[in-house]
Amino acid sequence: MTERRRVVGAEQIDRASRRGRKFIEILPGSIVTDQARDAAARLGIELRLGPLDRPAAPQGDGGAALYRGLYRRHPKWMPAFPAKGRNATRFRKLTLIGAGGVGAALAQLVFNRQLTEQLTLIDLVPGLAESLAMDMKHASGTSRQSGRVDGGTDVGMAEGSSAVVVTAGRSRSPGMDRSELATANGRIVRSLAEAIQSTAPESVIIMVSNPLDEMTAVMLTATRFPRERVIGMAGTLDSARFRVALADTAAVPVSEVDAMVIGSHGAEMVPLLSLARIRGQPLHRFLSEQAIADCVAATIAAGGRIVELRRTASASIAPAHAVLDLLEHMSGRIAGAVPATIALDGEFGLSDTVIGVPCRLGTRGLIEVDEVPLSESERDQLHQAAAAVRSRTNQ
Ligand code: LAC
Repeated sequence: MTERRRVVGAEQIDRASRRGRKFIEILPGSIVTDQARDAAARLGIELRLGPLDRPAAPQGDGGAALYRGLYRRHPKWMPAFPAKGRNATRFRKLTLIGAGGVGAALAQLVFNRQLTEQLTLIDLVPGLAESLAMDMKHASGTSRQSGRVDGGTDVGMAEGSSAVVVTAGRSRSPGMDRSELATANGRIVRSLAEAIQSTAPESVIIMVSNPLDEMTAVMLTATRFPRERVIGMAGTLDSARFRVALADTAAVPVSEVDAMVIGSHGAEMVPLLSLARIRGQPLHRFLSEQAIADCVAATIAAGGRIVELRRTASASIAPAHAVLDLLEHMSGRIAGAVPATIALDGEFGLSDTVIGVPCRLGTRGLIEVDEVPLSESERDQLHQAAAAVRSRTNQ
């Protein structure tokens, strides 16, 4: 296959400037026109030589193709061009703490996509992680996917991990709010933090346990890791649910919907309506205000609705895919920004707050927060969400 050389023109620089970008990434082999260089100098856009933290070739699976499609329509959320012809980084060792619904679903996704050289599963229920690892190993006799996987109860097995995903903790019962889990899960997260700090001090931690924003803050404080290495998964899940709600309501394939949700993983979610697109068009071209409001409400209620139906467990498949999304962004298999929960350091005018915002990720965690332009009301909502999370975190 011949590889086309990419051309960066003045139009792209103008677009980046209109979207408030400070830089665009220029990948090796790209041609930057003189007009583009002039426009960049005039508009103060830095032409940053990429790849940033080794982004790699999208792998041609459905998820990557979807993202390429989405981000192509949203230059603000993608590097200048997706990298081509490079191998994605594999994690050397990925550990999942918690082998319940999300952990088990994620383990299979990660194993089958060969995202890591070594996969380690840990759960305090005797036999659970070990049997899951064994079961997956047996399945590789059919799938012919080779890979190392082990499981056990000892958190010490996380030793030397490059990334640790924490799904451990209680999940909601019907009618419960996520924040009601804070005390019970806070204890678990604090004890895991201590173990991770001593066994995998260089790892990037991805938090999944609820209440997500608060538990990410607890992990950050308890490990004293830099903010770049403690990331929460929620925005990816909420964005996925929002896209599905919009697609179903507008009766279009979900691949034609581009939308992102930031804010807290709870009542204070902030769906970015101003940036959402259906077939590249603003939502109001397809949906009434009421229909859009219903999609927002459905997104906020989605997790609780699953708990109501399942009764004894919360969602597992969509959250597992959402974690996979973060891991694939980290590994460079998918380019562009992704919503993730992170401690803010002045971005969006917020500090001392752990909340969901668009982030660019690499193998070492956060590269940078992508300060997409927000409407006034979205900014207000984000600040209100931040105040609510801060008040719960400081309780
Ligand atoms: C949900 C849980 C995992 O939203 O928070 O489904």
